[in-house]
Amino acid sequence: MGGVLTTMRNYATVAGQAYPPKPTFAVDQIPDLAGSVMIVTGGNTGIGYETCKALLAHDAKVYLAARSREKGHAAIARLKEETGKDAVFLELDLASMKSIKRAAEEFAAKEGALRVLFNNAGVMNPPISALTEEGHDLQWGVNVLGHFYFTELLLPLLAAGAKSSPDHHSRVITTSSSGAYPGKIDFDTFKDSKHRRKVHPELLYFNSKLGNTVVAHQAALRYADMGIISIALNPGNLDSELYRTIPSVGRWIVAKVMLYPNWYGALTQLYAGTMPDALKLNGEFMIPWARPGKCKKEMYDPELGRRVWEWLDGEVKAFEAKL
Ligand SMILES: NC(=O)c1ccc[n+]([C@@H]2O[C@H](COP(=O)([O-])OP(=O)(O)OC[C@H]3O[C@@H](n4cnc5c(N)ncnc54)[C@H](OP(=O)(O)O)[C@@H]3O)[C@@H](O)[C@H]2O)c1
Repeated sequence: MGGVLTTMRNYATVAGQAYPPKPTFAVDQIPDLAGSVMIVTGGNTGIGYETCKALLAHDAKVYLAARSREKGHAAIARLKEETGKDAVFLELDLASMKSIKRAAEEFAAKEGALRVLFNNAGVMNPPISALTEEGHDLQWGVNVLGHFYFTELLLPLLAAGAKSSPDHHSRVITTSSSGAYPGKIDFDTFKDSKHRRKVHPELLYFNSKLGNTVVAHQAALRYADMGIISIALNPGNLDSELYRTIPSVGRWIVAKVMLYPNWYGALTQLYAGTMPDALKLNGEFMIPWARPGKCKKEMYDPELGRRVWEWLDGEVKAFEAKL
């Protein structure tokens, strides 16, 4: 009975965050970002694209990280038309630990400091057969492990970013979802297994989005003495390519009933990544549009956080040992 009530409460929270009040934060409130270097993963489309656009408009130096060179450069050309500014392409496939390492090395060869890392890229609802290059569940691998590894590799640059930043902090902003509420941390699904194949991909997506919040909260605790802030967020429900696996009629109906234009989705992460007041939200969860919120208790659970962190760290060590 308790389980049913908890499930109902979680889905009620999802529904409650689907229709937020009008935003009180607008992109023209973003301060001048000249001299700040930022990375947006999945910057070629959707919420990531809108995030790049607002950052460029405030004079940040933006690395647009994307897995497709073609899509990345097409987005950079569009951004140039819309803002007059040039983003820099960074090739990054989060489904490949080799690619993640190469991307971090390429960035480190070009820059000495990173002020904000937007861990925005994400995949939702792929076929159950989809795995990363290293054999992890694609959604856990890309959304959680990939961003974890990328962030760890960039830590020295984030530490340098905190030192050189006018507000003495750098930030890691993680795009989670309201899907975190019904999500659960199920260690037996992180790699392919008989058990994993019985779980619906939509649930695996929710699990990965809860994983994002657990890692973000742990990062806030573990990186605090380096001056690195970590915030996770639900960006809202946006009419992006994320719903590509839903058949077109279903997608049209979903879009009409509950999806907002993508620029709304960038608001919460732009607030977390650029506004002075967001420094007070270290280790917290934000909800649309740019409001402080609370995720469910698993996000803040120290024992679960330790276990998830150790698992991720173990996968990174196993990968690096083979290099
Ligand atoms: N849209 C929503 O309603 C909604 C709601 C809650 C949370 N979110 C979260 O918001 C974030 C952005 O999603 P979106 O709505 O903007 O979706 P989107 O339009 O599908 O964008 C997702 C981005 O992630 C990239 N990506 C996917 N797999 C990747 C990989 N292996 N390596 C590198 N990049 C990869 C995509 O690249 P390609 O273009 O090459 O596929 C794309 O740039 C995601 O984390 C998502 O979970 C979205």
